[in-house]
Amino acid sequence: MSEPIKWVKKDPSRENVYWPNDAMKKRAWISDPAIYEKALADPVAFWAKHAEELHWFKKWDKPYEFAPHAFKWFVGGKTNLSYNSLDRHVKAGHGDRVALIWEPEPAAEKAQKITYNELLRRVSKFANVLKSLGVRKGDRVGIYLPMIPEAVVAMQACARIGAPHSVVFSAFSPESLRDRMVDAGAKVLITADGYWRRGKGIELKKSADVGVDGTKIEKVIVVRRLDGTCPMKAGRDVWYHDVMATAKEECAPEPMESEDISFILYTSGSTAKPKGIFHTTGGYAVQSYLTAKWNFDLHEGDIYWCTADVGWVTGHTYINYGTLMNGVTSVIYEGSPDTPDFGRMWAIIEKHKITQLYTAPTAIRMFVKWGNEWPEKHDLSSLRLLGTVGEPINLDAWLWYFDKIGGGRCPIIDTWWQTETGANMVNNLPGIGPFIPTVAGRAFPGIQGDVLDAGGTPVAVGEGGYLSIYEPFPPALTRGIWGDMERFKAQYFGDYGPKRYYTSDGARKDDMGNFRITGRVDDVMNVAGHRLATAEVESALAQNEKVSEVAVVSKPHDLKGEVPVAFVLLKAGMAPSDETRKELIKTVDQVIGPTARPEEIIFVEDVPKTRSGKIMRRILKALVRGEPIGDTTTLMNPDSVNALKKAVEHKG
Ligand code: PRX
Repeated sequence: MSEPIKWVKKDPSRENVYWPNDAMKKRAWISDPAIYEKALADPVAFWAKHAEELHWFKKWDKPYEFAPHAFKWFVGGKTNLSYNSLDRHVKAGHGDRVALIWEPEPAAEKAQKITYNELLRRVSKFANVLKSLGVRKGDRVGIYLPMIPEAVVAMQACARIGAPHSVVFSAFSPESLRDRMVDAGAKVLITADGYWRRGKGIELKKSADVGVDGTKIEKVIVVRRLDGTCPMKAGRDVWYHDVMATAKEECAPEPMESEDISFILYTSGSTAKPKGIFHTTGGYAVQSYLTAKWNFDLHEGDIYWCTADVGWVTGHTYINYGTLMNGVTSVIYEGSPDTPDFGRMWAIIEKHKITQLYTAPTAIRMFVKWGNEWPEKHDLSSLRLLGTVGEPINLDAWLWYFDKIGGGRCPIIDTWWQTETGANMVNNLPGIGPFIPTVAGRAFPGIQGDVLDAGGTPVAVGEGGYLSIYEPFPPALTRGIWGDMERFKAQYFGDYGPKRYYTSDGARKDDMGNFRITGRVDDVMNVAGHRLATAEVESALAQNEKVSEVAVVSKPHDLKGEVPVAFVLLKAGMAPSDETRKELIKTVDQVIGPTARPEEIIFVEDVPKTRSGKIMRRILKALVRGEPIGDTTTLMNPDSVNALKKAVEHKG
């Protein structure tokens, strides 16, 4: 067990500022703050130096190139994510180390431990399966899998042969799957018959069948996780275990150009249509590897658990690629944290002696609510470091996590990043600190950013503004939106020009250069750590035939961070009722998935509009938050506001 880290009150106005103790400084990869200056003096040289820690089939000719909207890393270099995640360790004689521990939800079922040797064998076989089904370099492959080892096998196999994968969260609806598969032009889908969630078998294949309809998907590979009784379409569907049984065990990794696409991952922007963020190979590999290593203090023998779903970027980078490239053990849990009881998380940590835990503030708030008795029943002394991601963490959740889970020994690494950035961008390092509740920290070494005002000028310490990342851009930053480079340019470089990436996050900085992220400044919500556009929920609700008009805004929520609230105008002759409410929720489930369900549906006669007919969401947002409404004189229908106030009070 490591010693407690010390709590230094450097100045009385700073209540909770933690710094690493000597043991931690000694153990951490980096403990000298001079790293920041050194790296920023020449960021390109910094990243190139660490790129050498990975394997390159051919070294790059040029480490970095910049032209507006088209920056490149490790130009001319050839590498492969799967080779770096697996073969590199096996070749170094570490094939017997455990790569994955899989914990199934049914507590009676045995956990699986998969070594690097075994994972390489499975990945190579599956890569051969994909090839035999006609998948070639550059072809897109859909992955719609639950939290089972095959999700990692599938991603790695795609990376091995250079077929960009596009993973869709298994709780997303068939329609969401279809939209993404159509946009990506995928020709193969990997799914499962189902999975266990809260003690129930969820039939995923049924959703996959609906979602595949109307796409260009020719083959569906189905992993058997439940009883294997799902319908299989002749000529299209094959069982994973059947095709794996005869596949060859060796598959040479494709030497990928550094700038070749590794994967596409859809995420919410401020419109109803999710965007396919794509990432490259070399730059993504280097930043994923290095941030995982330094931020989570990964060393040989560590058993690291990132609780994110593989359907999110966090799962891609910190369950799969970044973690495995470091040769440690990555833990995957299939199910829900309250099954069979509220202590499951802590039971898993005790059972597998987990050393680092990386989770989301929304989960932490839920654990707080469930009560201290659950973690107290378990021995959590194996933990050495804690991480959070996905949304701003509130003080209470931070202190609880630090005391009750970390036992006061573990630094909390609060990592700010996005699907677009591919890997961690802003957080303090375990050997340097400081660790301050609600403050993510400084930009990672080699990354420069600042808080800017609307005109692009850095704001003063303590002032609010917009977080922006400067050129030279970090190696893992997205190179584009699949099929929509104009949207890419406008969204990220429209505000501050091509040398300043616009994050859409509000922030403040302190006098130590730490950033406190205050949340999205666009119409993107963060619901229980899930990124969701208000426009997506609106467009889903609008598909219900009873709906005439709808506006969705977000409202703060104790557990989930934010939740959607929907203002719905029904068509003439339709009366508001609980029945209709239920029906609308069902529509959202069908179009997006249960994660997008509005917390409240408020039936109204009218919504405030500008004279040009645009809905004034600002007013609706103020109403649901109980904030001042501000000026309503420019509205086309100022009277609507009073009626709305009443509707909000009575919840429609
Ligand atoms: O608002 C920020 C918030 O999550 C957004 C990105 O969401 P997504 O692309 O789904 O990726 C989530 C996992 C990387 C950001 O724009 N966010 C992420 N991490 C933090 C955060 N907000 C505050 N603090 C964080 N540590």
